[in-house]
Amino acid sequence: MATAESAYLSGLATRVSDLPDTERHTALVRVTHWINALSFFGLLISGFAILLAHPRFYWGEAGGIGTPSVLDLPLPFMKGGPSGWGRNLHFLSAWVCVINGSLYALSGFLTRHFRKDLMPAKADLRWKSVWGVVSSHLRFKRPGVETSLAYDVLQRFTYLAVVFVLLPLMIWTGFAMAPAIVSAFPVIQTIFGGQQSARTIHFLAADLLVLFLLVHLTMVSLAGFKNRVRAMITGRSPAREEHP
Ligand code: HEM
Repeated sequence: MATAESAYLSGLATRVSDLPDTERHTALVRVTHWINALSFFGLLISGFAILLAHPRFYWGEAGGIGTPSVLDLPLPFMKGGPSGWGRNLHFLSAWVCVINGSLYALSGFLTRHFRKDLMPAKADLRWKSVWGVVSSHLRFKRPGVETSLAYDVLQRFTYLAVVFVLLPLMIWTGFAMAPAIVSAFPVIQTIFGGQQSARTIHFLAADLLVLFLLVHLTMVSLAGFKNRVRAMITGRSPAREEHP
């Protein structure tokens, strides 16, 4: 039977599995999480459709057929392909993602969700403690039941990186490719060295988000898909292991 070892739960002398169901995720975190997941899939599909029109990347202001590229994807050029509906869906999903993400970020600061639930506790930043969590993740060890009550240190770092680095970088580089926005605020684009650099960084950050999603889904599955997803839907987490 697992005991609550994490610093987030150090005040609990009881066994985790003896605890009753607990309030896990607030309504706002749940609603914004699922809207984000939906808009992310919209962005992913439409981004791929847009990419097929020109699956090649450049650095600096301009780039095109006949100019040196920094990355050539082994995909066919599909001029007049799916990029029409792709662009429409991409803009729609991007605005949903921006508005929804802003709401999540604003409420995360106001309700101290980021400080309470995502900032790592000092005790968990000790090398031994971090290494313990990293090595169990690397061995794909099933996360302990205590992680159904609070995120472990690696989850916290990863979620903070996604929320405060990768998603803002995606939005910024996206704006840096929008002519109307760049003509009003050129610095949004010049800071990256030009439109093509912004496009390349946008693509690389998208790849990191896809990698995050694959690991995220693997870890949720290892921890017990039904219980974790149910907690993200209903807000309540059963403090019991999920037996397959
Ligand atoms: C269908 C796909 C997805 C599923 C099933 C899913 C499931 C979950 C679950 C169960 C949790 C809680 C983790 C736990 O209790 O250990 C969670 C949290 C989280 N997920 Fe997802 N997720 C999905 C897609 C995404 C995507 C696309 C993103 C971002 C690009 C994302 C970002 C996050 C973040 C940042 C948290 C922490 C939220 C917070 O507490 O503020 N998820 N997810």
